[in-house]
Amino acid sequence: MATKVLFVGSECYPFIKTGGLADVMGALPKALVADGVDARVIIPKYGCLPQEYKDRMRHVCDFWMDLGCTGDHFVGVESFEMGGVTYYFLDDEDYFSWGSPYTEMYNDIERFIFFDKAVLAALPVIGWRPDVIHCHDWQAGLVPVYLRSLFYDTDLSRHAKCAITIHNLRFQGVCERSRMQAVSGLPDECFALDKCGYSSAANGYRPDGNMLKGGIVYADRVTTVSDTYAYEIQTPEYGEDLDGIMRYHASKMVGIVNGIDYEVNDPATDKKIAQNYSVDDVIEGKRANKLALQRTLGLEEDPDKMVIGLVSRLTNQKGLDLVGAVVDRMIDGNTQFALLGTGDAEFEGMFRNAEWSHRGAVCSSIMYDSARSSQIYAGADVMLVPSRFEPCGLTQLIAMRYGALPIVRETGGLRDTVEPYNEYEETGVGFSFSAYDAGQLLNCINYAKTVYFTRRHSWDAMVRRAMGRDFSWNVSAKKYEDLYRQMVG
Ligand code: ADP
Ligand code: GLC
Repeated sequence: MATKVLFVGSECYPFIKTGGLADVMGALPKALVADGVDARVIIPKYGCLPQEYKDRMRHVCDFWMDLGCTGDHFVGVESFEMGGVTYYFLDDEDYFSWGSPYTEMYNDIERFIFFDKAVLAALPVIGWRPDVIHCHDWQAGLVPVYLRSLFYDTDLSRHAKCAITIHNLRFQGVCERSRMQAVSGLPDECFALDKCGYSSAANGYRPDGNMLKGGIVYADRVTTVSDTYAYEIQTPEYGEDLDGIMRYHASKMVGIVNGIDYEVNDPATDKKIAQNYSVDDVIEGKRANKLALQRTLGLEEDPDKMVIGLVSRLTNQKGLDLVGAVVDRMIDGNTQFALLGTGDAEFEGMFRNAEWSHRGAVCSSIMYDSARSSQIYAGADVMLVPSRFEPCGLTQLIAMRYGALPIVRETGGLRDTVEPYNEYEETGVGFSFSAYDAGQLLNCINYAKTVYFTRRHSWDAMVRRAMGRDFSWNVSAKKYEDLYRQMVG
């Protein structure tokens, strides 16, 4: 019989997306279903889900559930099937009718505590019992905790195993322990310091509760989204104050690198780009897309200029201060820069300024726009991903799929997926630098420019190599299937 796996998380493409988590929640279950796994997904029913999907949802069940000191809540479950995957949307109007998936931490903690308990409470009512509950990030962190405490004496707890995937250790879902305990109704023992309890120099020795930490401790297996990140988070530099916990639980942890959805990200069929192309006509295809991009962005229209792209959430994680430090030197008469992103005001202002200083050579699109992101991947020659840390990173994978060569810092998944160019052996699919240093980034960009402008034959060959690499979910989905098999036993 097919293994039954329930994905629990806060976003899922194409319903709701703020970053790579949504891409993984969208693509991995599809790949698993194609391999015969009965994979289903549950996310909150946010008010901002597109109407076209809301219209197609079917009511599955509703019931009342208590939640600690907050009293009784109405829980509604709707479902919708697409591409062989069943998606469940879990509702409580009070919590999820808001305009965006995240508000601020104080409210979000209560909303996702509700979500985590309601997911477990809903399963018997839905009438589907998973073999593995696969949780994602802090928003699903209390699912394993509930499963092994308040729900321990249930058929679900006796049967199901729990895995948690860390997509980003920086966000942990932390608030005062007393509040987390009062809202969740979880017993004292769950808040011991080796469980959800959290108190260290980093939080000023406050007695806090930590949802992600609880998930890591109570889950049967922990995964993260690349091998290198699995190692890095056991060190103080990348451990976000949980490196001790990560080392303690290292034996149940594994790194499985993300793939990307090859149907969604395909330059041969992508309707959002000016001209479709594949590896066979990539050079002409990218030239046409570059001209179209330059026109759209108000950049000087010249296919011989090198276009450097960057598509990112604008946060401290992404190495944007390095880009700010080099942008004036990066731009020259032959180089243009196309940025797409939203986030911290500091970085939005920095990139607006760069556009004002280099009119016609720099365009900063401060917005979230999936059509424009496709157009940048298709029209750019290189994509910058100089992250401070990067659990996996999908932009470098999408870049390679569209024949734009990534320039990355050697950290996390960037290190695992971008083999750097070797000019002696003519191997590699991009460029990389190691230290978090603006000088190293600039050297790396200059090296890429040298290859682009003086050894175009090598460049074009590298573009074809990058497009030929397999970053689909084929390989990694099998690794998750192995993991589920080991867990189910
Ligand atoms: P993270 O999850 O840390 O944001 P990833 O590289 O894993 O980083 O995934 C980012 C995803 O979000 C990619 O699919 C990228 O194309 C997309 N993305 C980021 N910013 C934007 C934006 N402003 N507009 C459209 N897509 C974006
Ligand atoms: C997180 C990470 C990113 C990763 C994504 C999907 O948002 O920041 O590196 O690719 O999750 O796993």
